[in-house]
Amino acid sequence: MMSMSERGRFISFEGGEGSGKSTQIRLLAEKLEGRGVRTVVTREPGGSPGAEIVRHLVLSGVGKVLGASGEALLFAAARDDHVHNVIAPALGQGRWVLCDRFTDSTRVYQGKLGSADLKLIRAMERVTIGELAPDLTIILDVPAEVGLARAAKRRGQEAPDRFEAEDADFHRRLREAYRQVAIDEPERCVLVDATADVAVTAQRIWSVVGSRFTELHETQSLEEDGLEQKLETNGA
Ligand code: TYD
Repeated sequence: MMSMSERGRFISFEGGEGSGKSTQIRLLAEKLEGRGVRTVVTREPGGSPGAEIVRHLVLSGVGKVLGASGEALLFAAARDDHVHNVIAPALGQGRWVLCDRFTDSTRVYQGKLGSADLKLIRAMERVTIGELAPDLTIILDVPAEVGLARAAKRRGQEAPDRFEAEDADFHRRLREAYRQVAIDEPERCVLVDATADVAVTAQRIWSVVGSRFTELHETQSLEEDGLEQKLETNGA
C-alpha cells in the first residue's frame, strides 16, 4: 500500500470515437486497485454535477450554433467545475485519477478540427487547470473506420451524438490530430495502438503505466500480469 500523504497520479485517456477508452480505464482502475492504489474514475465533459449539466448542452449540438470558440468555453466551464470539485480533491487525498478525456480533447476537437483560437484555448487551460496537467496521457489510436464501427455497434438504435454524427473525413482528421499531440508532447503522452482486442490493449497500457510510475514496482504481484518481465525488457 502506498503512502496516503503523497499526491495521487493523474492519468488522462484520449482518442477518437470508439477507441475503447472507457473499457480500458475500467480495466486499469481494477488493476491499480488490486495493488492497493485507490483510484477515482471520471470523465469529461461531466464528472461533477455542474459539469454534467454542461455535458447535456454540448452533446445536444449547441456548438453548431455557438461556433467552436463558444463551444470550447462551455467545455472549459465544465472542466473548471470538474477540476475543482473532483480531480484536485481526489489527488490531494492521494488517489489516482483516471479521466476519460481532458484538455487534449478541447485542443483537438475545438482547436485543430473546429478552428477555435489556440490562444483562447491555452488561456482557458491556465484558468481551469493551472498546474494540474496530467502526469500521463494515454492516447488510444485506431483507424477512423474501426472506431466508427465500434461506436455504431455500442449505440445500437440510438441516434449518434454531436461528434459521432460528423463524417468519416472528420474522424480521419481527428485521428491525425491526436497522433500529432503524441508527437508534440512525448514526455506526457503515449500513443497506444488500440486496434487489437481488449486484453492486448490493456496489457500494453499496463506496461506503459508500470514503466512510467516506478512506485508501482513496490506493490505486490506485478509478475502476475507479466509486468515485471516487461519492465526488465524496457530497461526500467
Ligand atoms: P462522449 O459520449 O463522452 O464520447 P466518447 O465516448 O467518445 O468520449 O462524448 C464526448 C464528446 O465530446 C466526444 O465526441 C468529444 C467531445 N469533446 C470535445 O469536443 N471537447 C472537449 O473538451 C471534450 C472533453 C469532449
